Amino acid sequence: MSLDDPLIVNDTADAVKTSTQPAAAASALPPRFSCFVTGTDTEIGKTLISSAMLHALVQRGVRACGMKPVAAGAELRDGRWHNDDCDQLAAASNVHLPQSITTPFLLREAAAPHIAAALEGVTIAAVPILAAYVEINAAADATVVEGVGGFRVPLNDDFDTADLAAELELPVVLVVGLRLGCISHALLTVEAIAARGLKLVGWVANETVADMAFADENVAALAQRIDAPLLGRVPRLATPGAQAAAAHLDFTLLPNWPAHTKL
Ligand SMILES: Nc1ncnc2c1ncn2[C@@H]1O[C@H](COP(=O)(O)OP(=O)(O)O)[C@@H](O)[C@H]1O
Ligand SMILES: [Mg+2]
Repeated sequence: MSLDDPLIVNDTADAVKTSTQPAAAASALPPRFSCFVTGTDTEIGKTLISSAMLHALVQRGVRACGMKPVAAGAELRDGRWHNDDCDQLAAASNVHLPQSITTPFLLREAAAPHIAAALEGVTIAAVPILAAYVEINAAADATVVEGVGGFRVPLNDDFDTADLAAELELPVVLVVGLRLGCISHALLTVEAIAARGLKLVGWVANETVADMAFADENVAALAQRIDAPLLGRVPRLATPGAQAAAAHLDFTLLPNWPAHTKL
């Protein structure tokens, strides 16, 4: 049932008559916030920025959950398979679900996902991810989905990260790891996002290396060419963490970003 469906309260004539009106409670619901975080590459700050977003949501009193649908590289500790990204997203979330839901495909080998999956005889597919996403949405008011690697990383022979973002129908936030070469990587990613019919709703300039030459000029060149708001520029942090990164970001520029709900 969608929020637009008529609400049948009971079978009295009056109730049936009023049931064609939108339900007052449903129409008063705030729009939920969800997005897909992608990046110009692997190791450029997607997990850091996703965690910062979750931290900011939790600070606003929102029930927020991170999702890393496909993660490659896990180690067994205390009887549980751990992946750094999954652990960081869980630490920044305030809704905690079984890892099999937040990460339907947790692969052991730290390799390209389709390779790691083949090693385990697994085929990564959209359906389990979409089903898990629905479960997360039922438990949380905001969901931040972190992609794997760059935007066109293959997940199986005919399905990649971009296809996954499209299946999830999510607006995209692009993290640009500021380093030599990032302008072309960023613009190619912007093109790929548009080619899937997805909306780029914001981007982040993340200083993954200290003292990059001409960093200001690179950010200016990107800002001139990317038709989406710059959510902020995160400097090279001495102690990288969700809270420290969030201090440099303005997520209120994102559509459906929730208002403060904490008293
Ligand atoms: N602005 C930053 N300052 C300091 N360290 C950073 C910054 N951004 C990312 N890092 C570090 O770089 C590494 C890769 O970041 P991560 O968020 O895991 O990237 P990705 O998710 O894109 O692979 C991590 O160790 C992270 O702490
Ligand atoms: Mg990551």
